[in-house]
Amino acid sequence: MDDEPLALSRRRWLAYAGGAALAPAFVRHARAADVPRFALGIASGQPRERSVVLWSRLTGADLPPQVAVRWELARDEGFTDIVARGEETALADDAHSVHAEPSGLEPGRVYWYRFEALGQRSANGRTRTAPAADANADLRFALASCQRWDHGHYAAWRHVAGSELDFVLFVGDYIYEYPSPPLAVRYHDGALVRTLEQYRARYAQYKSDPALQAAHAAMPWLLVWDDHEVDNDYANLQGQSLQPDFREQRAAAYRAYWEHMPFPKALRPRGPDMRIYGRYDWGALACIHAVDDRQYRDVQVCPKPGRGGSNVVNLSDCPQLLDPKRTLLGAAQERWLADSWDPQRRWNLLAQQTLMARFTYTDPEQPRVWTDGWDGYAPARQRLLQTVLDRRIGGVVVLGGDVHANYVADLKIDFDDRRAPVVASEICGTSIASRGAPQERVDEALRHNPHIRYGRSDQRGYVACRLGGDTLHASLMVVDKPEDPASAVGVAARFVVDARRPGAMPA
Ligand SMILES: [Fe+2]
Repeated sequence: MDDEPLALSRRRWLAYAGGAALAPAFVRHARAADVPRFALGIASGQPRERSVVLWSRLTGADLPPQVAVRWELARDEGFTDIVARGEETALADDAHSVHAEPSGLEPGRVYWYRFEALGQRSANGRTRTAPAADANADLRFALASCQRWDHGHYAAWRHVAGSELDFVLFVGDYIYEYPSPPLAVRYHDGALVRTLEQYRARYAQYKSDPALQAAHAAMPWLLVWDDHEVDNDYANLQGQSLQPDFREQRAAAYRAYWEHMPFPKALRPRGPDMRIYGRYDWGALACIHAVDDRQYRDVQVCPKPGRGGSNVVNLSDCPQLLDPKRTLLGAAQERWLADSWDPQRRWNLLAQQTLMARFTYTDPEQPRVWTDGWDGYAPARQRLLQTVLDRRIGGVVVLGGDVHANYVADLKIDFDDRRAPVVASEICGTSIASRGAPQERVDEALRHNPHIRYGRSDQRGYVACRLGGDTLHASLMVVDKPEDPASAVGVAARFVVDARRPGAMPA
């Protein structure tokens, strides 16, 4: 089957999936030791040259308001060569989450970490730092999004955990806020999520999955959110149902997101605000610009009557779509991105939430578009791509998710001009578990969008990306049976991008 990414041994998968191991010295003590304290696993994130963030959240109904949590970071899996250790206080106010931030580390190195609290030790996690700024290291990562619990199991995560990758790039929909329908593969606990307690419980349910825990324990993650971490189709401070208390809902959702993700303490949200956009460098090879298209956007225009959120409209019926003042990123983030592009680096990867390529359901002479994606903000998309063109930014690859389909596309200033130059390449990865639109609809739409080279909404999985100095190889990894946690995962298609020539080609 597939040779990429490199499959690791079953032993390593089992090591990550093993969960909390009791330290023998504590076993004979009080019954509290029987309550698993690390039942939600561990994680690491934000790998920089000299630092990484380590995460866990303690579990158990009997936790005191403050708990001391010790952590260790070692050069080896056996923890004989420990290079950093520390103690954090897990507070009930933060759902007993822990965000430890070892620094002064060696660039481009693999480390192992573990936590200890209340007489128990967590599983061991593997993480790494980014290469030194002048290092010519290659990069391998998994692009993933959209893991709706009740739509399928996480065989894709099991495959990621067993693969030799530097990190996971997760571009949103870590949880879904919905209740489950009467018939589902498995069921969300509880009703529609709106409060801090409900968001915490939903994250805890998702993080109970052993394959997801294993993918976190195997490598660091870079994360941005999309809408379902808060509310379907929300925009800025407007919820889909125009709920009057949406500001409080967003504050609760952002708080729970921070509590459950390997972000540093400095990013703890203040009210309804949390800045998650930023840039990550990978040696001399690449920089990754991670943006947030939810928090700062202008609201969607031409919504359904009495509602916020998206709609599918004819462009001729909604001239507001052409208003150049509207932005998807917000003015400040748009400026930040324009300054963040790095002409010195071979690769500029843009990690964002959704499909950037124009996608019309009908003849492009009379386009019919979805207003929540970049088509709802086409002048802002044009500005972004024009900056890339004007500043001759090389190796721009836009990475996304959200639409539960694999799309590989050419990005152009004018999608209707077949002779217009290709400015950047796009790889929009399919969902880990969330179901997609019927394939017939995608097949029909592809006839109207010749710049989209590949479109499959009937695939679940992730994209394995391998970057070297000249080429990016993308393997679309597809799950055979999404309802089976032990499903096989194989390669559906391979694409290659030449750093000097935008546009992905079949490999
Ligand atoms: Fe999604």
